[in-house]
Parts: sequence; structure tokens; C-alpha cells
Amino acid sequence: MAPRKLAAGNWKMNGTLASLEQIDQLLADHPAPGCDVLICPPAVLVHAMAARASGRIAVGGQDCHAKASGAHTGDIAAVELADVGASHVILGHSERRTDHAETDAQVEAKSVAAHEAGLIAVICVGETEAQRDAGETLDVISAQLAGSVPAGATAANTVIAYEPVWAIGTGRTPTNDQIAEVHALMRERLSARFADGADMSLLYGGSVKPSNAAEIFATPHVNGALVGGASLKAADFGPIIAALSAA
Ligand code: PGA
Repeated sequence: MAPRKLAAGNWKMNGTLASLEQIDQLLADHPAPGCDVLICPPAVLVHAMAARASGRIAVGGQDCHAKASGAHTGDIAAVELADVGASHVILGHSERRTDHAETDAQVEAKSVAAHEAGLIAVICVGETEAQRDAGETLDVISAQLAGSVPAGATAANTVIAYEPVWAIGTGRTPTNDQIAEVHALMRERLSARFADGADMSLLYGGSVKPSNAAEIFATPHVNGALVGGASLKAADFGPIIAALSAA
């Protein structure tokens, strides 16, 4: 099995019920995309979006708790996301790692919870600009992969997203050689550790937009994208889906 192609949208803390019309537009413009399509809206919209999409695109959460239930005010369990129609959950996004001081161990525990709930974990890794400037990128990515991806990960239940922190929401992107270097390392590390690591989908994320998508998707071991700002509007996300379908 080859890695599945996945165009994943991360709406972050953006969108209301009215934004769901973007799903109608996306489905109208791309009724049969040549790749998997996932949107992760704010948790309060997961149920309504899943109903609206009725299986034509996948819907996911942006975080989950490591426990299945309990006294954790404000948190959301993986089983709760699954219950309202989510099939995926983003874990370890750099904004969670920064805003909520999430550690690799917590991301690993959340990933286990996601797997137990039957969700596909989209586990994010990425270096800061200071780490890149210090020549530490490959070490940082290796350590995050080792610490965040649980032993039970398979190509069916896990997707890895490489998102350089300095490229998120900045309009700046690494060169294709820089993306290729990290993706080759990830493929090598995952293949060494997991029986089907060669088949895991590896996404690039950070300022992906219609104008740079095709070039990024031509990079070896890039099987799709995790898209923030450009996933909010069907007019932007649609061409990215088309570029991945054609890649
Ligand atoms: P961006 O965000 O596409 O807006 O840079 C990507 C992400 O954080 O997943």
C-alpha cells in the first residue's frame, strides 16, 4: 500500500455555523477529489460539519485529552470527538505545544487515547526558527517523532505532519530541499520503527496556498498538506485539493 494522499484543513479558532457553507461550496466544486480531504474545525462545529459533509469529506478535532472521561473541565475526550462524527484529531500542533506547554509525552498519551477511540491521529512536529538557525532541525524532528508517536502507531491510524514553527501563518515556506530533507528523515525513522512506516502519510504544513501547493506536493515523501489559513475558504482550499489530486 502506498501512503494515502491527504489534504487536511486546520481551521484553528476560526469559524461559526455560517462557515459551514464553505463545505457545500467545496463539495460542489470538487465532488470527487483524487485525494482524502479532512477539515478540523473548532470542536463545537465538529458535529454539524460531520452531518453536513455526510461522509464525503472527513472531519476531525484539533486536540483531545489523554483520558476517556473524568473531571477535566473544558477538555474534550477522543471518544467524544468520535461520538459526534470525527474520524481524525490533530495532536501536538505547535500552537498547543506553545500555548499549553504540551510535551512530547503528553502528545504520545493523547495519540494513544485517539487510537483507542478509533480516531486517526495527525501528529505534528516542527522546529523553531532558532533551532533551524542553530542547525538542530533534524535532531529536533527525530526527538519529537520518538517522543510523540506511540508504539501502536500504524499507517492506518497515524498521519505525521511536518510543520516548521516559523512557517506557520507567516507566508514563509522552507525551500523544497529543506522540506525534502526533513521528510526523508521522517520516512527513514518511521520505517525503522514501524512495520508499515513506509506507508504512513507524511504531510507538510506551514503557509501552504494555491500558488505553492503543486511544487510542495512534487517533493519526495510529501503525501499531502496540513493547511491553516488557506483552508478557511473553499476558493483557496479547493485549488490545493486539486493540486494534490494531480500530484
Ligand atoms: P498556515 O497554518 O497554513 O496558516 O500557515 C498551518 C498550520 O498551522 O497547520
